[in-house]
Amino acid sequence: MSSLPPVGRLRWTDVPAPLRTRLETTLGSSVTDVVTPAGGFGHQLAAALTLADGRRFFIKAAPTEDPLTSANLHEGAVLGSLPSGAPAPDLVGVHHAADWTAVVIAHLDGPHPDLSPASSDPRQILALLDKVTSSPAPAAYTAAVASTPSGAAGLHGWDVLLANPPEDLEPDVRHRLHELAELEAAWPGLAHGDRIVHGDLRADNMVRDHERGVTFVDWAHATTGPACIDAVSLAPQLILAGHTLKDITRLLDNHPATATDPQASTAFLAALTGHWHRNARLPAPPGTSGLRAYQHHAATAGLALLGSRLS
Ligand SMILES: Nc1ncnc2c1ncn2[C@@H]1O[C@H](COP(=O)(O)OP(=O)(O)OP(=O)(O)O)[C@@H](O)[C@H]1O
Ligand SMILES: [Mg+2]
Repeated sequence: MSSLPPVGRLRWTDVPAPLRTRLETTLGSSVTDVVTPAGGFGHQLAAALTLADGRRFFIKAAPTEDPLTSANLHEGAVLGSLPSGAPAPDLVGVHHAADWTAVVIAHLDGPHPDLSPASSDPRQILALLDKVTSSPAPAAYTAAVASTPSGAAGLHGWDVLLANPPEDLEPDVRHRLHELAELEAAWPGLAHGDRIVHGDLRADNMVRDHERGVTFVDWAHATTGPACIDAVSLAPQLILAGHTLKDITRLLDNHPATATDPQASTAFLAALTGHWHRNARLPAPPGTSGLRAYQHHAATAGLALLGSRLS
C-alpha cells in the first residue's frame, strides 16, 4: 500500500526499476510500503520506505541531472560528517542507477515539533541550537560543505524593493525602505563564520522522534557561518506559532547564538525579511504549494521582530 504524495512530488513508482532493485538488494529486503510525509516544497521523491522485515528507511531520490540531486548529495555528505550527538539522522547510503540518484537516511519516527508556546519543543530546539553552535564545526563537516556557497549569505530583498518600490507596498514599509536596505547591506560582510549552520530550519524540517527527541532533517542547505543564522531564522516562525513579540525579542537578546553577535543577528534578520518580502510578491515556482503564503507571513513576523529589536 502506498499513500499518494502531496501534489508535485515524485513517487516510488517513478524511480526506475534498476534503482529500486539496487536499493532493495542493498537494504536486504523488499519494499512493502511507501509513505510520503506532508510538508516541504520540493518535487523530488522524499518518502519513508517500510521493508518486508519491518525496518524503515527514509529516501530522497531524483533524476541525476535534476538540481535537487546535487542538493541530496550535499545532504548525504553533511549527514556523514556531522559530529556524533548532532541532532541529525545517520546517513545509510548513496546509490546511483539508471540516471537516478538516491540518498538513504535513517528513519525518524514522530511528528513535526510543535512550535507553539504550549509545547516544550521550542525550548528543546533552542537548547539544540546552542549545543550545535557553541563551538567551531569539526574539520570533516567543514570539508563536506567547503564547496557549497552559503544560501543565507546571499539573501537580500530590500535593495530591490528600494530600487523599484511596488505600488501596493505598505506605507510603513515604504517609509522604512532606506533603513531596511542599509541594515541588510551590512549582512554580506558579517555572514562568515566557522559554526555549523543547518540553513533551512523550519518545523517541517524537524521530526520529534519518539526515541531521540527533536531531530533536524533536510540538511541540503547546510554550510558553515555565524552562529546566529538558524536561531534568527527560527524566531519569526516562533512568532507565527503564537509566541509574543516581546518573548522572541528577549530570546534573541539572550540566546547564546544571537547574544554573542547582535550586529550580525540584526543584519541577517533584515536580509532574511527582505528576501521573504520580495519573494512573496513573485509568481509561485511550479510544483510548489503554499510557499508564497508562507513567505508573506514570515516576512510580516520578521519585520515586526526587526522593529521591536531596533526600538
Ligand atoms: N529521516 C527522516 N525520517 C522520517 N521522516 C523524515 C526524515 N527526513 C525527512 N522526513 C520527513 O519528510 C519530509 C520531507 O523531507 P525533506 O524535508 O528532507 O525533503 P525535501 O524534499 O528536501 O524538502 P523541502 O521540500 O523542504 O526541500 C520532512 O518534512 C519530514 O517530515
Ligand atoms: Mg524539507
